[in-house]
Parts: sequence; structure tokens; C-alpha cells
Amino acid sequence: MIEHPQKLRAATAALQYVEDGMTLGLGSGSTAEIFVRQLALKVNEGMRIQGVPTSQATADLARQVGVPLVEVDHADHIAITVDGADEVDGHFQLIKGGGGCLLREKIIAHASDLMIVVIDETKLVSTLGKYPLPIEVDPFGFSLTAKKIFDALRMVGVECPDLQLRRKGDGLEPFVTDGGHFILDCACEAIPDAAAVDARLNVLPGVVEHGLFMNLARVVIVGEDDEARVMEL
Ligand code: A5P
Repeated sequence: MIEHPQKLRAATAALQYVEDGMTLGLGSGSTAEIFVRQLALKVNEGMRIQGVPTSQATADLARQVGVPLVEVDHADHIAITVDGADEVDGHFQLIKGGGGCLLREKIIAHASDLMIVVIDETKLVSTLGKYPLPIEVDPFGFSLTAKKIFDALRMVGVECPDLQLRRKGDGLEPFVTDGGHFILDCACEAIPDAAAVDARLNVLPGVVEHGLFMNLARVVIVGEDDEARVMEL
């Protein structure tokens, strides 16, 4: 049983963009998971699609529910990626990576003709940054990288960035991404200039990727109590 009706409404509404024959990027997280399950119902009805998963968890789910997959390097044209988000602002800029899959999510979103974001209404914000920004870093010298990130964020108006190494559920071992990297969760309270943060982080050695998704989403579908609100740029 799906316990979150708003996420279900958003994920189901995204199916209207899916056409027979498409290759789809399959996002990660609970809302993307619902989309994969809904997609499986279409596949069972005879729709022919194939998916490119953005995480091992999504790949495992897709196999379990019967959504055909294609190897990422054999997918020559990804029409649509459907993915969740942790925050979405009024310009469709996102924070992603709560589930630790941001690198693969961003690679696939960037390679897709269209990124559709499916969220419940709690994810809509006026200013990004309340949700800690996940930053994926190489394990080598991650403490040095963290200091550089702190300085970089201060330079672009984030007043008191607080970086924490993400740990596994046991609270001891560092969380390791599918790509073998660490995540620094950066509590910012507010990110006044997301484009400036994006630009600064993109040039720091040791930063593999970060969770600001700028100018990627063109459709945001918000699951509400009684409907799914589709917003297009
Ligand atoms: C995974 O790394 C994330 O980017 C998720 O897409 C994001 O955290 C949203 O997850 P939920 O749909 O579970 O809220």
C-alpha cells in the first residue's frame, strides 16, 4: 500500500508525459519509487519503455516490479527523467541528494531531453537552503575539501555553513554513495544566491558533485490533497 497520497498523485500525473518506445531516466527516493511502481503497471498493460536507473536501489526496484532497464552507456537518447527533490524554488531550481544519489541523478537529468520533478507540496520553498545541501566529495582529503567548501560558501553569502559528514544508520561508518564517495551535508539555513554557490562548488577539487540542480527541471508536478498541480517553465 502506498502511504503518501500526495506523492502518489504527483508520480501518477507524470505518466501523462510517457510515450511508447521512450527511454526514461528513473530517479531515486520515495517519490521516484512510486513512479517506478506506476510505470510497471503501464508495462504490464503492454507499454514498451526502458529505464535508466539513477541508483542501485532504483535498479533493484525496477527489476523487482518488471520495468525493463538499459545499461546507461547503451542509452543513446533519454527522453524524460522523472525524479523527486528535497526542495524546489519558484524558478524550478532544486536541492537533491537526500538519498545520496545526486551524482547519478544529475548525470541522467542532464542527459535527458526533459526533467520532470515529482514532489509533495512540503518541498516547495521561496528560498533554497533550509534543507541541508548534500555535497558529494572524494574520500581522499575530505576534511580539507570541507574547509574549502566552508570558505567558498561564506564568500557567496551563506553566513554560517555547518558541514557534517553523512554517516550510515549506525552513526559510525561514513555513508558511501553508489559511486564510492562521501557526502557532506551542509546546513546553510538559506542560500541567497544558488547560482553563485553552484559556480563556486563546481571548481573545487575534491567536490565530485553537489545537490543544487540549476536549470535542469522544466516540469514540476506537485501532489496536493485532492489533485496534482502541473507547472511547466
Ligand atoms: C535522492 O538522492 C534524492 O535526490 C531524492 O530524489 C530526494 O531526496 C527526494 O526524495 P523523496 O522523494 O523520498 O522525498
